[in-house]
Amino acid sequence: MKTQVGIIGGGPSGLLLSQLLHKQGIANVVLEKHTREYVLSRIRAGVLEHGFADLMREAGVAERMDREGEIHDGFEIADGGGRRRVDLKGLTGGKTVIVYGQTELTRDLYDARAAAGGTVLHEVDDVQPHDLETDAPFITFRHNGENQRLDCDYVIGCDGFHGVSRKSIPKDRLREFERVYPFGWLGVLSRTKPVSPELIYARHERGFALCSLRSQVLSRYYIQVPLSDTVDDWSDDAFWRELKHRLPADVAANLVTGPSIEKSIAPLRSFVAEPMRYGRLFLAGDAAHIVPPTGARGLNSAASDIYYLYHALVDHYQKGDDGGLDRYSEKALARVWKGQRFSWWMTTLLHTFPESSAFERRLQDTDLAYLFSSEKALGSLAENYVGLPF
Ligand code: APR
Ligand code: PHB
Repeated sequence: MKTQVGIIGGGPSGLLLSQLLHKQGIANVVLEKHTREYVLSRIRAGVLEHGFADLMREAGVAERMDREGEIHDGFEIADGGGRRRVDLKGLTGGKTVIVYGQTELTRDLYDARAAAGGTVLHEVDDVQPHDLETDAPFITFRHNGENQRLDCDYVIGCDGFHGVSRKSIPKDRLREFERVYPFGWLGVLSRTKPVSPELIYARHERGFALCSLRSQVLSRYYIQVPLSDTVDDWSDDAFWRELKHRLPADVAANLVTGPSIEKSIAPLRSFVAEPMRYGRLFLAGDAAHIVPPTGARGLNSAASDIYYLYHALVDHYQKGDDGGLDRYSEKALARVWKGQRFSWWMTTLLHTFPESSAFERRLQDTDLAYLFSSEKALGSLAENYVGLPF
């Protein structure tokens, strides 16, 4: 097989890039390890920055997102029994976010690729990029029981944190930066009316909690749990009881509980791999960086990688200009690290750290008090949350 751009990974990053390149007449193939159903079964993020939403529109895949997604002008932070609102729209001169599940967005991208006759191969095994330091890289893999080879001009690693792309870069050419947090998030999806029309991030001495949603009939809740916990430690009743403990009384009183249709624990990690390029291999999304979900930056950090790569590849193929490709890693990392800082800051602000000293807990109290005492501090939070410019 031969194509112009070989994309490893059929998650949101790989599919969005594939669709954007297709719209510009740039041939590409997506190699995905799992089935479409498996990829869609993973419950992930739910908040889209305006930059990501604009990319979906440019890719011609935003019709359902714009119809079913909810525009959110703000969210609340609960602490010590009270709640205070962060007015995203007012603090950013009108910018908002869209609440629309990553599952639905990925489904829309799969449907668009299929409608356009795109090549997305599922259940691909033993994917391995080769000759990345030459101008004729290729990817070997197994598909339908046969050994295959895909010759391409560029290989894009959109294969997530556990993928093969980052691991194909020689160790002496890669620097990795990581912080692992001493807790995880236990998440529940339930077919219940959301407790609040806007998201509520709750700080509590028993641990962090988040009230989110996918629609007016589908709620998404999280509570911070010790890393030693497993899903089996948490019955639905135990989850709802603990969530109520961590919410202000008036919110807890309105919480509509119901059976969990999905329940999982995700560890929290900050991670960045530098550089995001090795010869003809470019990393994008979770393949290159991971953030704790607190700041809703995961999918949105992937968006700017895809934006830069898309424009760089169009410049290469349509203008013979490789400036975007040459500057990709530096440009992508500059925004990735701003997302890392924001996610780390929100995580540090809102979670209960088992080992924190009395001094650190006072700092946390003061950080929150300062935030709500200063329009400028709130403005900084808001401009990061709605998405810094690409
Ligand atoms: N070969 C082919 N595909 C692979 C391989 C491999 N060796 N390893 C992983 N994959 C696939 C996975 O099955 C997955 O579908 O690559 C895809 C990577 O998708 P994501 O992990 O969702 O990463 P990305 O597309 O960058 O999206 C980032 O997803 O995980 C969330 O929080 C994250 O919201 C963020 C978003
Ligand atoms: C979610 O709805 O899954 C979600 C929303 C906001 C976050 C994290 C997760 O910060």
